Amino acid sequence: MKFVTTFQKLISTTKDCLSIKNEGNTFNLMSKNSFLMSIVCLSFFLILPIKLNALDTDIGKDLFKSHCASCHINGGNIIRRSKNLKISSLKHNGIDDPDSIAKIARQGIGIMDGYEDQLGDNGDQIVANWIWGQAQKAWIHE
Ligand code: HEC
Repeated sequence: MKFVTTFQKLISTTKDCLSIKNEGNTFNLMSKNSFLMSIVCLSFFLILPIKLNALDTDIGKDLFKSHCASCHINGGNIIRRSKNLKISSLKHNGIDDPDSIAKIARQGIGIMDGYEDQLGDNGDQIVANWIWGQAQKAWIHE
């Protein structure tokens, strides 16, 4: 009889041990998973703005090609050569941030018409940011 109880005890301790071990494993698995999940989430939030920026850059370039490039090819100006989109000319004419370019894109300047209707929502800002970026790069990488 004594033998049987000892045997039962042994079994139950082993069971306990096993279940603790299992719990341990489950816990480890959980924390591993949530660690991976947080990495995935984190990288998503880190990559998202870069992707959106890249998207904006593409849209900016397209807007420029459709609405501005006919006169401002490669950042120049085929009508008034001195009023081009190179950084020296922009600064010389008091245009020293993307917002000022966006305003000109919307409303026009001097003999240049405004393109508010054609550029769509936010298009003025997006194309202006792209132009400003190009000006910083001296229009080398079109
Ligand atoms: C039909 C030709 C034409 C198109 C298209 C055109 N522009 Fe212009 N742009 C001009 C002319 C001409 C001037 C000079 C205006 C003046 O001072 O009388 C000018 C001037 C500018 C200037 C000032 C540059 C400086 O150095 O002073 C900016 C900025 C500008 N344009 C942005 C744009 C943007 C953005 C677009 C597209 C949305 C655009 N332009 C489309 C003809 C054009």
